[in-house]
Amino acid sequence: MPTSLPRHVGIIMDGNGRWAQLRGQPRIEGHRVGADSVRDVTRAARQVGLEALTLYAVSSQNWARPADEVAALMQLLRDYLVDERPELMDNQIRLHAIGDLDRLPALVREPLDALCRDSAGHTGMTLTLALSYGGRESLARAARTLAARVVAGELATDAIDVDALGQALPTGGLPPLDLLIRTSGEQRISNFMLWELAYAELVFVDVLWPDFRRNDLFRCLDAYAGRERRFGLTSAQLAEVDSDVEPTAG
Ligand code: IPE
Ligand code: IPE
Ligand code: MG
Repeated sequence: MPTSLPRHVGIIMDGNGRWAQLRGQPRIEGHRVGADSVRDVTRAARQVGLEALTLYAVSSQNWARPADEVAALMQLLRDYLVDERPELMDNQIRLHAIGDLDRLPALVREPLDALCRDSAGHTGMTLTLALSYGGRESLARAARTLAARVVAGELATDAIDVDALGQALPTGGLPPLDLLIRTSGEQRISNFMLWELAYAELVFVDVLWPDFRRNDLFRCLDAYAGRERRFGLTSAQLAEVDSDVEPTAG
């Protein structure tokens, strides 16, 4: 079990289409089995005690995929929300969603809104689904929100600092993103949490998402535990900070 646990893990769940194509199956079959990975990884994340897990499920750009793939993805998302509801409710998991949710069809939006509302008081772990999500789009929306507050005389221009912008993002209420995992071997960000990634540790794994299960998550958590996060400081400075915080034994 890893010793130093991240508070907040984000996952770019990639490789569903390739997983299916390798088996001579339609891409949607990869998305279907990928939903099993979501269940297993969410359960494991809750069990190890993560505070927050954010899953990139549909990007702003994914709407441009073939219409039948988009429609099948929406149906799978609905099935997931309906099927997982009891497990999320029973395990004190709070569901949260980020992205341009108004673009989601009612068949997703309705169970999503209901589960977000009904789980709002849960304190076990926050599971955030990034749906119709883009990091750039989120930043643009936050800028619009802040600009409107300036125009309304509620906010001084000088008050727009790192904290204010971070709070205006849809992730503002979540712990800082500590670890980003991307599956499928691709080493890019694809418009995920651009702002929040500033000091996250990045782990890229060759496993395709439908094959990614709890033991793969544990390996990523082990990799994270072995990293030294310096936040711009030197190792020696970090050692001093540590010794300030943890009095020497004896
Ligand atoms: C990730 O798998 C799921 C979504 C983006 C919805 P992909 O569908 O991107 O699978 P690959 O990358 O084409 O294999
Ligand atoms: C990123 O994967 C989006 C999600 C996992 C939801 P993509 O498959 O859409 O990203 P690219 O096209 O490889 O950059
Ligand atoms: Mg992909």
